[in-house]
Amino acid sequence: MSSLRKVLVIGSGGREHALSLRLLESESVGEVLLSPGNAGTHTAPPDLAHKILRNATGSPLEVAAREQPDLVIVGPEAPLCDGLVDQLSAAGFLAFGPSAAAARLEGSKAFMKDFALRHGIATARHVTVDSAASLERALAEFDAAPVVKADGLCAGKGVVVADSHDVAREAALGMLSGASFGAAGARVVLEERLRGAEASIHAISDGERIFVLPAAQDHKRIGDGDRGPNTGGMGTYAPAPLITPELAERVTRQILLPAIHGMAADGTPFRGALFAGLMVSDAGEPGLLEFNVRFGDPETQVLMNLIDGDFAEALIQAARGKLDPALLTLSKNSAVCVVLAAAGYPATPRAGDPIEGLDVAARMPNVRVFHAGTRLDAGRVLTAGGRVLGVTARGSSLAEAHQRAYQATEAIRFAGMQFRRDIAARALA
Ligand SMILES: Nc1ncnc2c1ncn2[C@@H]1O[C@H](COP(=O)(O)OP(=O)(O)O)[C@@H](O)[C@H]1O
Ligand SMILES: [Mg+2]
Repeated sequence: MSSLRKVLVIGSGGREHALSLRLLESESVGEVLLSPGNAGTHTAPPDLAHKILRNATGSPLEVAAREQPDLVIVGPEAPLCDGLVDQLSAAGFLAFGPSAAAARLEGSKAFMKDFALRHGIATARHVTVDSAASLERALAEFDAAPVVKADGLCAGKGVVVADSHDVAREAALGMLSGASFGAAGARVVLEERLRGAEASIHAISDGERIFVLPAAQDHKRIGDGDRGPNTGGMGTYAPAPLITPELAERVTRQILLPAIHGMAADGTPFRGALFAGLMVSDAGEPGLLEFNVRFGDPETQVLMNLIDGDFAEALIQAARGKLDPALLTLSKNSAVCVVLAAAGYPATPRAGDPIEGLDVAARMPNVRVFHAGTRLDAGRVLTAGGRVLGVTARGSSLAEAHQRAYQATEAIRFAGMQFRRDIAARALA
């Protein structure tokens, strides 16, 4: 075992659980640690029981110093924007993820929009506003009500798709005053509203080259038929047929590669996972809505089912700036993830409900139940967050993956459990 690699994953969500198991499946890896992790990441699943999965406590730098991992992967956006990869690198650790300078692609929407313009990437027309005094003039530049976006990180809550100029004005004023999002709203981007269907494409980059993953679709609203309030994401599927091979090729050529080359040209090379949020018009034109600078959650839960090859080795190469994209290949499978959320989510998720049936679901072939908001209490698994589990299945078709994921969902129960029954329904129709 000693020549096998040890990998540290920073984070505690379903994304990090999915990354960890995919890393553990890599031939070159013997052990994966999560910090802080959750109730699902204390031990390896039965099929990976010959390897080690465990949680580690302490700050990321403390854990790295104690455990001496061969690679560190930083899951969430906040520590990336705060420079955790820079700090780990300075301390001598190999870390996969962008520097703070490169993470501005997600950390500042105004930066991202200016970057896209500068490098010829198609995105909605925008105006950046940094005071209430300049808001009226900016609003007047839009015939139809603009979308209003707080500049900084808002955990997915900083965007208002306004139906009128009045709604847009009110949203922008709330942001600019600091009332809505504090410093993250000190600047506001107003942008033209795009119409069409949304999808995302992820790429793994070493700063120069990219490996492009299949397109995924998320389901943001809590309720079936896209009703009710927004959430962190209630489920995903991939590949999304909306993104044809030709469209994926265009997104690679017109969005992903110009972004990677643009960041390098600007002196802030992007090494890590680049997530392009796209709006595809009815005419089939892809427009960039946003960049995220890390793997999506719950996109990762499905994407990790669709990559063949030594994933850990690829991330190590990318972190070193020397990725051989041929190391990875795309599997021909499809995957579906159904998120099980706590009672009261998204407004006021209830914690402490015991979860049953995890053992049954764990024995189902081609199924993984990724934990997010869970914790262990005297041997029992309890809910401990809004999004609790990501029930994920793969299949040779989307229909097969869908059927397996929902079958596994039926095995799991907790009081007040909420989930959507229409994940991937649009693609299957
Ligand atoms: N220009 C736009 N036109 C139409 N809808 C938009 C536009 N920008 C954002 N949205 C909608 O708002 C959501 C959130 O916006 P996004 O830029 O992805 O920010 P974040 O994910 O950081 O909240 C998008 O998924 C999309 O549904
Ligand atoms: Mg988004």
